[in-house]
Amino acid sequence: MVRLAMLCNLIMCGIVGYICKHEASPILLDGLRRLEYRGYDSAGICLWNKDQFQILKKTGRVENLRKETLKHDHSGQAGISHTRWATHGGVSDENAHPHISWDNKLSMAHNGVIENFALIKRELEAKGVSFTSETDSEVLLNLIAFLYDAELKQNHATADVALLKALRGALSQVEGTYGIIMTCVDLPDLIIGARKGSPLVIGVGDEENFLASDVTAFAGRTKSVVYLDDGQVATVSGTDFFITTMDDVAISPTIDTISWDIEDAEMGSYPHFMLKEIFEQPMAIENSMRGRFSQDNSTAQFGGLNIAPRELRQIDRILFLGCGTAWHACLIAEYLIEKYARIPVEVEYASEFRYRNSPLDKNTLVFTISQSGETIDTLEAQREAQRKGYRVLGITNVVGSTIARENDGGVFQHSGPEIGVASTKAFSSQCHIAAMLSLYFARMRDMSFTDGKEIAKALKAAPGLIAQALSRADQIAEIAKKYAHHDDFLFLGRQMMFPIALEGALKLKEISYIHAEGYPSAEMKHGPIALISPDCPTVAIALKGEIFKKSLANIQEIRARKGPVIAITDAGKDFPEDLADEVIQLPETHEVNHAPLVSIPMQLLSYYIAVERKCDVDKPRNLAKSVTVE
Ligand code: G6P
Repeated sequence: MVRLAMLCNLIMCGIVGYICKHEASPILLDGLRRLEYRGYDSAGICLWNKDQFQILKKTGRVENLRKETLKHDHSGQAGISHTRWATHGGVSDENAHPHISWDNKLSMAHNGVIENFALIKRELEAKGVSFTSETDSEVLLNLIAFLYDAELKQNHATADVALLKALRGALSQVEGTYGIIMTCVDLPDLIIGARKGSPLVIGVGDEENFLASDVTAFAGRTKSVVYLDDGQVATVSGTDFFITTMDDVAISPTIDTISWDIEDAEMGSYPHFMLKEIFEQPMAIENSMRGRFSQDNSTAQFGGLNIAPRELRQIDRILFLGCGTAWHACLIAEYLIEKYARIPVEVEYASEFRYRNSPLDKNTLVFTISQSGETIDTLEAQREAQRKGYRVLGITNVVGSTIARENDGGVFQHSGPEIGVASTKAFSSQCHIAAMLSLYFARMRDMSFTDGKEIAKALKAAPGLIAQALSRADQIAEIAKKYAHHDDFLFLGRQMMFPIALEGALKLKEISYIHAEGYPSAEMKHGPIALISPDCPTVAIALKGEIFKKSLANIQEIRARKGPVIAITDAGKDFPEDLADEVIQLPETHEVNHAPLVSIPMQLLSYYIAVERKCDVDKPRNLAKSVTVE
């Protein structure tokens, strides 16, 4: 209840701190702009103006903040900034970050939730501390400031020692999650950060350093990064940085290198990141396969699973966990692994798994799937499974993300940065990796060399097939024009195409705000058929194979009730000409490629409908790219 009452619950805020070679404000604003994709509703910046803080905050876009910043004089070479995403009321300039402490000595930006903020606030108020916002973040800041003041006055500590002691003291009192950065008027040459549950990374530059929630923030300025772990505190100057634990034990840092270029995180000539990422899928799929086939090409291989084939042979069951689109990829993995490797697979929403305490067989292998590697529900589910002693592997796109660093091994997607909130290339690559895993597990069990070779060959053809599907973009844009005015859509698919129908419906909901439902085609007659009318178009997947005729019969049922049908098929001339209002033809291929292939027209349809409806495709309302609070 406390949490529900809070006015500054943060979903996936962006944090950027900079120090010191150049003027800070343009660099910080550029960093915030790069973090816009995470979803936010207000932005703020704390700069130095002579010896004082100057804090500017604006609701709406980073652009509003930039215009405001231009009106002021500030040439300081350090600062902190933030994009805020509020879930409960309070989208206001006051509630935006950074906050300033009641004695004007400290400024802080926070990502996360302080659960016991109300109690701490009452105690501080009783001691004379005043508050200007209703946020939990300001409570944490004022607690640090209160302890800092005491350290200076009572213990006569130097400012740096006092601040770090106060920070540690405050963090030991709070319950919840945080990724914070702060500055202090007494220490203009430092920015300080700490994390527990919310990501924080140091960007190590040339006489300039960064502290940010995401490497994208400084991707144009340095590729050298140090990922902080939970329970670590970083002290960063323009030329150096130190990391310690909460108990003040020094940590020797590992400097990693970002593998992608700044252009990968820019839109180029595309009107939206989503469209760019849809068209990047042949390359994303290609990258997911690089170096991952055996020399004899009869199986897949993975360098990072950290589990010997002998041990894998003991696995009786696999549990896949994920959220949103990644959960749909889990369902694809279930279908493929059960079919080809004959290993029973279960799929659970990560958020449900964490609190369900479901019984797991001792020989269960757990997999988490997450594009960002930061989704808190998935991270906590992973931690819960690890706590119980299960080995957890991950399929993750973001190298250095918390999920990737904490799991016991896994597969990196190498899809490049995905900026559009609606996941596209990351999803298709997750499906493709699931297919490669099914081949790997199958070849370890009963699949023959010849069958393995055939599947490996089929998988390698995927990028070309996806390029062919992308060539349907103009046709799909026309279809979108015709149907964009509808407010309800049904998506139908059977067997492995059922999760693709779910994903198609989710994409449309996410970016077009259209009510859409995904169902297994045969289930339509058990309820959803009541929705069929000329006002409710159905996107029906009908691929060749055992159930092709049954899928056609389902389409007939819709047509008989005057429901418009957009069919997606690989049947060529075998698809009856007049059965559907629109027919999107895809190339015929092995089933292992169906998930990414059929996703293409689904993604394009959602994209073009959203554009027709003038929706903000890359920053859909109410959504965040990655959700880091429960
Ligand atoms: C958020 C996004 C979804 C995404 C889900 C899981 O809810 O809005 O689009 O599918 O998180 O994200 P992940 O990074 O774990 O794959």
